Amino acid sequence: MPEPINSLLSLAGRVVIVTAGATVAVTDILKTPGKEFISCQAESPGRLSYYSCDVTNQALLAQAFEAKFRDLKRVDGIITAAGICIDKPFLKHTWEDVQRQQAVNETGTFFAVQHAVRYMKEHGIKGSVVMICSQTAQHVSPGHQLTGYAGSKGFVLSFARNLAHELAPDGIRVNTISPGYIATTMNLSIAARRPGLNRIFNEAPPMSRVGTPDDLKGAALYLLGDGSSYVTGLDLVVDGGMGVSSGNFKSSL
Ligand SMILES: NC(=O)c1ccc[n+]([C@@H]2O[C@H](COP(=O)([O-])OP(=O)(O)OC[C@H]3O[C@@H](n4cnc5c(N)ncnc54)[C@H](O)[C@@H]3O)[C@@H](O)[C@H]2O)c1
Repeated sequence: MPEPINSLLSLAGRVVIVTAGATVAVTDILKTPGKEFISCQAESPGRLSYYSCDVTNQALLAQAFEAKFRDLKRVDGIITAAGICIDKPFLKHTWEDVQRQQAVNETGTFFAVQHAVRYMKEHGIKGSVVMICSQTAQHVSPGHQLTGYAGSKGFVLSFARNLAHELAPDGIRVNTISPGYIATTMNLSIAARRPGLNRIFNEAPPMSRVGTPDDLKGAALYLLGDGSSYVTGLDLVVDGGMGVSSGNFKSSL
């Protein structure tokens, strides 16, 4: 009997860990969760839990995952989204800039995934790992100056592909989502310093608008759920067409 199409995109009964919503455990460096978390928790009582943790701190990361495993008693998926973005000319990058960005975007991602995958393997779970990568891993983001950040996302892309290959025999799937320009605190705070960026966010994508966090929901559901049961090693690009445009957008900055 074929599976009903609705269940292919459903995460009913699944338990997912999100670093930065099934039953979802969210990790972020903030001591208390942000307003989006609070409103989601109010909409889905008992389904969302929060664990404050700096993903660059080895001991705290391990403790946060131990607490999640103890509380959730099952993990079917993880989305790594915690990240920082340093936007400045190449020659202005300091040693500390590069190390901090690598610590969060590379090391934090790597070991968050390692904790989740170890649990999945120990419990025989054919889980799904989804890492938030970026269009910058594939091509330049017009208007931005992201040499260090792009390098860190290049790490995520090749890490994910190699891990997909290694974990395929276990039935654990590993994929990335590469957003284009999304209107979040990260981008809006950069644009607050360089107002010309807002025009680029809205005009550079062939779809002529900046993306929103809602634009990423379908991609995350697809990769976490059974609808993608034969998909691993994919970079799912959600960018309003940026990847197929000429890349010759003239910045007014
Ligand atoms: N906004 C975009 O246009 C865009 C595009 C491509 C990729 N991304 C990626 O999407 C992901 C989410 O970014 P966003 O746009 O929502 O930005 P955001 O700044 O709103 O979210 C990033 C989150 O990571 C958390 N964080 C930072 N350092 C941390 C640490 N050491 N430990 C734990 N949490 C930490 C922050 O507190 C924040 O909540 C990032 O990986 C980012 O690189 C964003």
